Amino acid sequence: MTQQDKVVIFDTTLRDGEQSPGATMTHEEKLEIASLLDEMGVDIIEAGFPIASEGDFAAVSEIARRAKNSTICGLARANFKDIDRCWEAVKHAKSPRIHTFIGTSPLHRAIPNLDMDQMAERIHETVTHARNLCDNVQWSPMDATRTEHDYLCRVVEIAIKAGATTINIPDTVGYTYPMESARIIQMLLERVPGADKIIFATHCHNDLGMATANALAAVEAGARQIECTINGLGERAGNTALEEVVMAMRVRNDILPFQTGIDTTKIMNLSRRVSQVSGFPVQFNKAIVGKNAFLHESGIHQDGVLKNVQTFEIMRPEDIGLSQANIAMGKHSGRAALRAKLKELGFDLADNQLNDVFVRFKSLADRKKEIYDDDLIALVSDEQTNDAYEFLQLKKLRVVCGTEGPQEAEMVLTIDGVDHHIDATGDGPVDAAFMCVKMLFPHKARLQVYQVHAVTEGTDAQATVSVRLEEDGRIVTGSSADTDTIVASTKAYINALNRLIIRRQKTAPGEDVKTVSYHGE
Ligand code: KIV
Ligand code: ZN
Repeated sequence: MTQQDKVVIFDTTLRDGEQSPGATMTHEEKLEIASLLDEMGVDIIEAGFPIASEGDFAAVSEIARRAKNSTICGLARANFKDIDRCWEAVKHAKSPRIHTFIGTSPLHRAIPNLDMDQMAERIHETVTHARNLCDNVQWSPMDATRTEHDYLCRVVEIAIKAGATTINIPDTVGYTYPMESARIIQMLLERVPGADKIIFATHCHNDLGMATANALAAVEAGARQIECTINGLGERAGNTALEEVVMAMRVRNDILPFQTGIDTTKIMNLSRRVSQVSGFPVQFNKAIVGKNAFLHESGIHQDGVLKNVQTFEIMRPEDIGLSQANIAMGKHSGRAALRAKLKELGFDLADNQLNDVFVRFKSLADRKKEIYDDDLIALVSDEQTNDAYEFLQLKKLRVVCGTEGPQEAEMVLTIDGVDHHIDATGDGPVDAAFMCVKMLFPHKARLQVYQVHAVTEGTDAQATVSVRLEEDGRIVTGSSADTDTIVASTKAYINALNRLIIRRQKTAPGEDVKTVSYHGE
C-alpha cells in the first residue's frame, strides 16, 4: 500500500472556539483541554491570542511549557507588538509557531485604511519580523474567500517570500462553497511562485452549514492542513468540526485517501469535556458526537441493525470511543469495577478522585435503579468541575412547589465555613432557590444561560444543569448533576459563583475581557 499524504490537524478550540460569546474557559480548563488534544494526536494546538488578555497570555505560555507532542501556536495581528507578545508565550514550547494575520478583502482593508500597496508592505514587514523570531510561521489573509483573486495571489507570494511556512486560507464568514473552496487552493498552487514549498491550510466557518465540505474540498485540491474545533465550537455558527473531517477522511478513505495522526477513540471524551467546560451543549443530531448519532429508534432501522449492523451504520461507536449504551453498574459494584468501567469510558482517575466518585456513585445507586454509562460520565464530570476549595457550599435545600404559587425554598448555605439559613419565595422552585442564594450572598452577576438536560431516559434520570453568569465582563460557567433537578440547578449556580469569586481575585473588573479588535494595534 502506498503511503497516504498526511493532513495536519490544527485545532483552534482554545482560540477561535473560546472566542465564541460565552464559551470562556478557566485557566485550568484550558490546560486540561490542551493536554487532551495533545494526547489525541492533534498536530498543532492554537492555544490562544496572547495579546488579547493577561489570561490568554498565561494560558498559552503554560500550554506551551506542558505540551508533549503538539506544536503550540499563538495568534497575533499584523504588528510587531502582537507578534513579540505571541512569541513570548509560545517560545516555551518544544515546537512553537507564530500565526499572524490581516484582513485582505476590500471590506477589511478599509478599516485600517490601507491601500493594496501599503497592506502588502505591512505583510512583508510583519511576516519577516515573525520569521526572525521563530522558524515556524503561519500567515492568514483574513476573509480570503472575499479577497480579489489577483490580490490574494500577490499577498500570498509576499508572505511566502518573507518566510511564512504555512499559508492559511480563512473563509472567515462561512461564505464559500465546496467547489470554490477547492478552486482557490488550486489557483494559489498554480499561480504563486514558491507555493509548492509551503503548506496550505483551510480554515472554514459554518455560517451556511458547509464548513466540513469546504475544508475537505480544499484538501482534495491540495491543502494539507485543516483548522477546526471540537464540536465545531466557534463564533456564530462555529468552525469546521474536528470530529467530522477526521471521521470523513477515515470512513471515506476510498475517495479521500489521506491520513491524520488522530486517535479517534478519544473523540467522544473530548467532545463531552469541551461541551461541559464551554457550557455549549452538543445538539442531539450532531454528526459523529450527537447523542443520537448512533441510535436507531425506528423499527425498520432497528431490524436492519440487528441483522447486519452495516445496514445503517457507516462507522462503529467504538471508533470514536463510545461504548454501547448499556447498564454500566449496579448497587453492589465495587471500587475496582468502578475504576475499570471509568477507564473504559476514558477516565483515568487519581485515587482520591476515584474515592469521591465512588461515594457519589453509591449514593446515586441507592436512589436510581439502573446506572448507565452516561450517569457515570455525569458524576465524573461533576467531580472534575468542583474545585478543591469552595467558598460557597450548599448544605441543605427544601422546596415547596406545585400549582399554587408562590413557590418557597428554605436553604442552609455554608459561606466560608459558616452556615447561614434563609427562606425565600419565587416564581417557580428554581427561582426561589436562586433567590435564597442571592439573599445570602448578594452579588450583581447576571444570569446569561440556564440549561437543563436529562442524562438518560426515565423519570429517575439525573439532570445536568449548566449556568453562565456575567459580572463586569467576567463570564463564568458552572455545572452540576443530580437526580433532583432543583438541587442540580442550585449547585450549578453556586459552582458558577465560586468560580466568579476566584475570577474576581485574579482580575480587576473588565481586565479579562478580550477587547482587542481584529483590526486594532
Ligand atoms: O476566521 C478567521 O479569519 C480567523 C483568522 C484570525 C485566521 O479566525
Ligand atoms: Zn476563524
